Amino acid sequence: MKKYTTVNDIANLTELINDAMALKKNPYAFQNIGKNKTLIMLFFNSSLRTRLSTQKAAQNLGMKVMVMNISKDGWALEFEDGTIMNSTAAEHVKEAAQVISQYGDVLAIRTFAGLTDKNEDYNEKIMSAFVKYATIPVVSLESATEHPLQALTDAITITEHQQKNKPKVVLTWAPHPKALPQAVANSFVKVMQLSNVDLIITHPKGYELDTEITKGATIEYNQEKAFENADFIYAKNWSSFADYGKVLTTDARWMITKKKMQQTHNAKFMHCLPVRRNVVVEDAVLDSENSLVIQQANNRTFAAQVILKKIINNYLSDD
Ligand code: CP
Repeated sequence: MKKYTTVNDIANLTELINDAMALKKNPYAFQNIGKNKTLIMLFFNSSLRTRLSTQKAAQNLGMKVMVMNISKDGWALEFEDGTIMNSTAAEHVKEAAQVISQYGDVLAIRTFAGLTDKNEDYNEKIMSAFVKYATIPVVSLESATEHPLQALTDAITITEHQQKNKPKVVLTWAPHPKALPQAVANSFVKVMQLSNVDLIITHPKGYELDTEITKGATIEYNQEKAFENADFIYAKNWSSFADYGKVLTTDARWMITKKKMQQTHNAKFMHCLPVRRNVVVEDAVLDSENSLVIQQANNRTFAAQVILKKIINNYLSDD
């Protein structure tokens, strides 16, 4: 594995999940493979879980970690070729990515969708430029259209908690006051398509995800119907893909409630966090025994650790 910026980079999901679960049992089993290797993490946007869990994952492998809030502390970057840089941007990503690559061994980047220009976001302007110009492996800490470490985490968590061979997994849109990216939903759909699950996606009309990503998946516009016999309810808000970046509704009837969870097959509740209580999901669901959100967040460490371990073994190993 030379990079991990999309779920498409996964060659064997079962192997990754099994390796991550083994690391969870014995996190320090490979505590020397990252010796004298440095992970550089660049944050264009805020983070709690991704920042701390990826740092912990690297430390568990013996790596050193350097973290930079690049949008706040770095020079404003230019991404277009041939630009006359006489405005805000002081440094081109061509130089920045190559220079950063000299200071570390793996480069991890978080950058959210701008949600104004669909082409720019879906061409992954920032992540693609770093992949192009960096000379070291690149890992996504969430990009404009994908959150592959979250998706791997979610697949690990479902594997740990599933009680039948092919569980029914429902990805449900939930209300939110702000326009949010489609990244988590996109990567969740992709990773579920690699899994042995019955995936149903439910959302109000107008919230269809990119059909290139959802092709083959079942879309059910009636949330209550979608919840029937579900084993896992995965809630997430996203803004409209068709009417790009717009909030079309904040209809509270789409909030996840205890009453709705009672229509399921005693389903487990999942959310990537952070979550707005009593907007996305009722307290009664989040605080219930069936909520997996804290265990999910714990698995972020082992998802990151298995990816870093694979990159070290396959690409950075001195052997
Ligand atoms: N789930 C997730 O990516 O959390 P953070 O935004 O806090 O990193």
